[in-house]
Amino acid sequence: MDETTAATPAQQHAALAEEIENARYRYYVLDAPTISDADFDVKLRQLEAIEDANPELRTPDSPTQKVAGAYETEFTSVPHLERMLSLDNAFTAEELQTWADRIEKDLGALPELLCELKVDGLAINLLYEKGKLTRALTRGDGRTGEDITPNAKTIQTIPQTLTGTDEFPVPELVEVRGEVYFAVQAFDEWNEKILAETGRSYANARNAAAGSLRQKDPRVTAQRPLSMVVHGIGARKGFTPTSQSHSYEALRAWGLPTSDRVKVVKTLKDVQKYIDYYNKHRHDVEHEIDGVVVKVDALPIQGRLGSTSRAPRWAIAFKYPPEEVTTKLLDIRVQVGRTGRVTPYAVMEPVTVAGSTVQNATLHNQAIVVKKGLLIGDTVVLRKAGDVIPEIVGAVQDLRDGSEREFVMPENCPDCGTKLAPQKEGDIDLRCPNSQFCLGQIRERIDFMGSRNALDIEALGYESAVALTQPAAGTAPVHDEGDLLSLKLEDLADLKMLQSKRGADAKPGETELVPYFFTKGTPKKPSVPTATTELLLQQLELVKTDRPLWRFLVSLSIRHVGPTAARVLAREFPSFDALANATEEDLKAANGIGPTIATAIVEWFAVDWHRAIIGKWQAAGVVPVVESQPEGPRPLEGLSVVVTGTLAGFTRDGAAEELTSRGAKVSGSVSKKTSFVVVGDNPGTKYDKALSLGVKVLDEEGFKVLLGDGPQAAADTVTEAEA
Ligand code: IVH
Repeated sequence: MDETTAATPAQQHAALAEEIENARYRYYVLDAPTISDADFDVKLRQLEAIEDANPELRTPDSPTQKVAGAYETEFTSVPHLERMLSLDNAFTAEELQTWADRIEKDLGALPELLCELKVDGLAINLLYEKGKLTRALTRGDGRTGEDITPNAKTIQTIPQTLTGTDEFPVPELVEVRGEVYFAVQAFDEWNEKILAETGRSYANARNAAAGSLRQKDPRVTAQRPLSMVVHGIGARKGFTPTSQSHSYEALRAWGLPTSDRVKVVKTLKDVQKYIDYYNKHRHDVEHEIDGVVVKVDALPIQGRLGSTSRAPRWAIAFKYPPEEVTTKLLDIRVQVGRTGRVTPYAVMEPVTVAGSTVQNATLHNQAIVVKKGLLIGDTVVLRKAGDVIPEIVGAVQDLRDGSEREFVMPENCPDCGTKLAPQKEGDIDLRCPNSQFCLGQIRERIDFMGSRNALDIEALGYESAVALTQPAAGTAPVHDEGDLLSLKLEDLADLKMLQSKRGADAKPGETELVPYFFTKGTPKKPSVPTATTELLLQQLELVKTDRPLWRFLVSLSIRHVGPTAARVLAREFPSFDALANATEEDLKAANGIGPTIATAIVEWFAVDWHRAIIGKWQAAGVVPVVESQPEGPRPLEGLSVVVTGTLAGFTRDGAAEELTSRGAKVSGSVSKKTSFVVVGDNPGTKYDKALSLGVKVLDEEGFKVLLGDGPQAAADTVTEAEA
C-alpha cells in the first residue's frame, strides 16, 4: 500500500507500521529480508516523523518503540470470529453406531459422511482477509485464542497469501481451521539434534509442537520444522461452500495444505473400513494420529443438525486406544534381578494404557534415567512398547514447577546391602555380587524357576516366591534353587497359614510386598492367590520327572542361557553331568554355542554351591524327560530378522544363509514382530523404523553373538550398547 496517499495521519501510520513490522519479521525471524537496511531506516524515520506530529500515535506497540534485534510474540487474547468447537468422542463401534442412528433418525436417512484422520497436534485458526494472512490464533477456550501470528508465519506450509483460481477466487475473508503438527521423522531428527545440543529432549511430537508454537521468540519457532493440515473453515465472506469436501477443494486451490486421505462414503460400514485401515496403518502416516474424524459432508445438513455448546452433532471423533498417556512419576526405586543386576524402576500414578493399568516400568539402568532426562516428580509420557511392556518415553519438561528432584543410584543392594559393582570395568550395569545369599536375588531366581520359559509351575508365582524366600515370619524354607525341589510338607508348616491368609485377601498381582511388573520383556506371572502349599508341593513333585533337561538348565539362571541356548545345550550334552564336565572347547565345538555362552557355563559350574544345586535336585529325584531330537540344531527358530546396510564380514546372501540355516526367518521389512534388525554401514530407513518401533538393533558384533550364542546373548549386547 502507498502510505503517502493515505487520507489521515492515523491511516498513514498504520500502513507504514505494518510495512515496517513485516520487514522486521522477515529480517529477524525468517532471515530473509525483502528491503535493504537503508530503506528500513528511511521508513522508520518517516514513522517517527508522523509520531512527532501526532504523539497519540506513539503507542507501546509501535515499531518505533521496539528494541532493535528483539522480536517477541505477545500472546494477546483475541476473539475468534466464529467459535471453535471441540468434538465428541466415540471409543467403540457401538458408540459410533449410536451417533449415526441419531442422525438417521433426525434426517430419515444417513447422509454422505466424510472420513479424515484425527491429527494429534494443536488446533490453529488462520484469518485471511483479501487473501492475506492477518492473524493466527490458538484454539484457547474456543471463543478466544492467543495471538501467535509471528510464530504461525514461520510454518512453511502456511501460506501468507492465498492464490485464487477461476473456480475458487480468493474470498474477502475466511477463517481456516487446522492442526499444527511435527511430522514423526522431522521430530525424531530434530529431537536427536536438540538432545545433542542441550542435553534435553521432548517426550513426543505433540509436546514439541506445542512448545514450538508457544515460543516468545518466533526465530526459535522458525528453527522447528512444523507442518499444518487444514480441517475446516470458520467465518467466511465471499465464499459459500456446499459441503465439507467442497470447502477442502477451495482450500486446496487457494494453496492451503489439505489432506489427500479424506474420503467421502455412503455407509457406516465404509466408515468402519476406513477406521480399521488406519488403525492398522497408523504408523504409515507421516504424522501421529489419535483417531478418525467423521463429518456429515453436506453443509446444509450440518446446519440442520446443529451443535451443542461444546461440539457439533454433525461430527464425531473415533478415538484409537492411546499408545501414549501421561502420568506422574512418583518415585524411582531400584530392584535386584535374578542375575544380580540392580535396575532402577519407575513408580507412577496408576494409569491405563493400551488396555491395562500400569503403575511401574523398568528404567533398565541409571544411564537411561539420565538419557531420558527424568526427574522424580515429573509428568512423564508412558507407552507400551510392542503393546506389552510399559516404557517411559520421557518427561514433559514444560510442566515442571521446580519441585522435581534427581534420582541418585544407590551404592548398595536394596535387598542385602552389599556394595554394588560393575561386573567388569566399563559396564554401565551395577550388580550385587552376593548371589548366594542376597535374598532379593534368590527370590527373583525362585520366581523365575516357576515361569513359563523355565519349569512352568502354575502354583509358583511371585507371591509364592516371596513367601518361600522372605516369609513374613519364621525361617525361609528355600535358600537356593536346590531347596525348591527338595521341599516337604513340614518345611511349609509356617507358610501354610501365611499363604492362605494372603490368598484370601489378595488378587493376582496385587501383593503389597513387592512391585508387580515386567523385567526383560517377560511378563511376570502372578501366583494363583489361593494356591495352597499342597498344590505347590504336588506340582513341584510332578515337574521333577515331567520336564525336559533344557527347562532345568534355563531355571539355573546361568547368564546368556535362555530357552534357545538351553535347547542346544541339552541336545549336545544330554545330562547334567555331561554339561558339568564339558570344557570350554567342548562347548564351543557345539553348533550354536559361541564363546560367550561357553565361558558363562564353565564359570557357573566352577562354583561349588552351584554344583550343589544339581546335587540337591538329583537327591530329590529329578530325572529330566528325554525328548526326541529334531534334525540339526535350530537355535534361532521362531525369530524374524532383518538385515540392512553393509556388513564387513558377510555378503547379504551369506548373512541370510547363516540365519536361515539356524532356523530364523529373514524378512525384508521391519515390523513390531521383527526380533532383530542387523545394521551394517550406511543403513537405510529400516534402521529408523527399527528405532521408532523399539525393535532390537544389532551391529555386526551383535550379529555374530546372535549366530554364535543365540538371541538371549545377542539381546544382552543391545542393552549395553543402548546405555
Ligand atoms: S474438526 C467442529 N477434524 O481435534 C469441528 N478436528 O478433539 C472441529 N483435530 O479441536 C474440529 N484432527 O484440534 C477436526 N480432522 C480433524 C481433526 C481435528 C485433529 C483436533 C481439533 C479439535 C480436536 C477435538
